[in-house]
Amino acid sequence: MSVRTAVRAEPGRRSQERASLHDRLMETRALSSELARPLSDEDQVVQANDDASPTKWHLAHTTWFFEAFVLTRFLQAYRVYDESFEYCFNSYYESVGPRHPRRMRGLLTRPSAGDVRAYREHVDQALDRLCASGGLPPEAAALIELGINHEQQHQELLLTDILSLFAGEPLKPVYAAADPALRAAAPAPLEWIAFQGGVVPMGHDGDGFAYDNEGPRHDQLVRPFTLATHLVSNEEWAGFIEDGGYRTPSLWLADGWATVEAQGWDAPLYWEHAQGATMHKGGTMQMSLLGFRPIDPAAPVCHVSYYEADAFARWAGYRLPTEFEWELAADGLPVAGSTLGQKHLRPMAPALDRDGQLKQMFGDVWEWTASAYLPYPGFKAAPGAVGEYNGKFMCNQFVLRGGSCVTPDGHVRRSYRNFFYPHQRWQFMGLRLAADA
Ligand SMILES: [Fe+2]
Repeated sequence: MSVRTAVRAEPGRRSQERASLHDRLMETRALSSELARPLSDEDQVVQANDDASPTKWHLAHTTWFFEAFVLTRFLQAYRVYDESFEYCFNSYYESVGPRHPRRMRGLLTRPSAGDVRAYREHVDQALDRLCASGGLPPEAAALIELGINHEQQHQELLLTDILSLFAGEPLKPVYAAADPALRAAAPAPLEWIAFQGGVVPMGHDGDGFAYDNEGPRHDQLVRPFTLATHLVSNEEWAGFIEDGGYRTPSLWLADGWATVEAQGWDAPLYWEHAQGATMHKGGTMQMSLLGFRPIDPAAPVCHVSYYEADAFARWAGYRLPTEFEWELAADGLPVAGSTLGQKHLRPMAPALDRDGQLKQMFGDVWEWTASAYLPYPGFKAAPGAVGEYNGKFMCNQFVLRGGSCVTPDGHVRRSYRNFFYPHQRWQFMGLRLAADA
């Protein structure tokens, strides 16, 4: 779907929709600042790894997005805050112009964190003026909607990247205090749900915002399959480790095994186990946004790559679901779960009720699928620079579904396609098993 049609403003409802768009815009902008509040200015400068970005960069880049794509086009007499910021904070928009190399974002000590806060204030005031001016063209509204969703994606990345940074710190900082009312639960019994499949419509149904990569809606043939009621748990992953999963090349794709050997992987990212310790004696620890804590055996495994997810599934005698199986299974389920607004900031154990329903489909961890990230039949990227948003990444990546515990509320939906390279695991990524029926 083109961003031109991302927001549908019927004539009679325009002012009401604009008011709500304005409210959501300002709420989204405020949440980004709120997420950065527990961090020192020093925390906000450092780039934890080549895939991550500093907090300060996320805050500035999302601001630049509104300035470059909305304000300079639609707000009369808008004054660009600082011409040099475009080079610093353009991410990957080739058609906009040259930019600071991604891997060197952590070297940007200037502009300072204070300058970036002032930049956000300048742009927020301008966005306020634009929304209040009346006569907001539908294209501007569509781009503001895209900017809100873009900033929400960066809110998740901000937290993901802060975790990566804090995990490498000897003092193991705590981003947020754990809720003492939330206790580890016993694992719910795994069940399997059967689906008949068929020729099934897939992709965004046109109701509300969606990224262009979620359409066009089209038919897919889905063969009969079964899907696990809940995500693979830490305890199940510990079984894979104890059975030599990371030392058995026959379980792995060739690229996966090469990565295991090159990276020395023997556990999910952020796991640390003391010599001879077991998970049940609290001897296996994992860094999280709540600090360095014993692993909850019943909680979903998190921070595993596609290669690891694929190897685990093979070891367990199952496979990963395709993105179409996942989307079919999610039909009719409420889009509710452990997302950012729940403030868990970590994936949670499944509910204990044995009701034969799929659990943890939304929130907790992004679920790796077996599907390569490819365009749907008839896909066309949006015209202009924002057409670079999704389409140009449709090569060598895999689709993940369902959102995570740090996905902003309202940002995930059944047709949402996240995508990462198969070796990446710093995001909140896990898996659910599937099988042919
Ligand atoms: Fe971005």
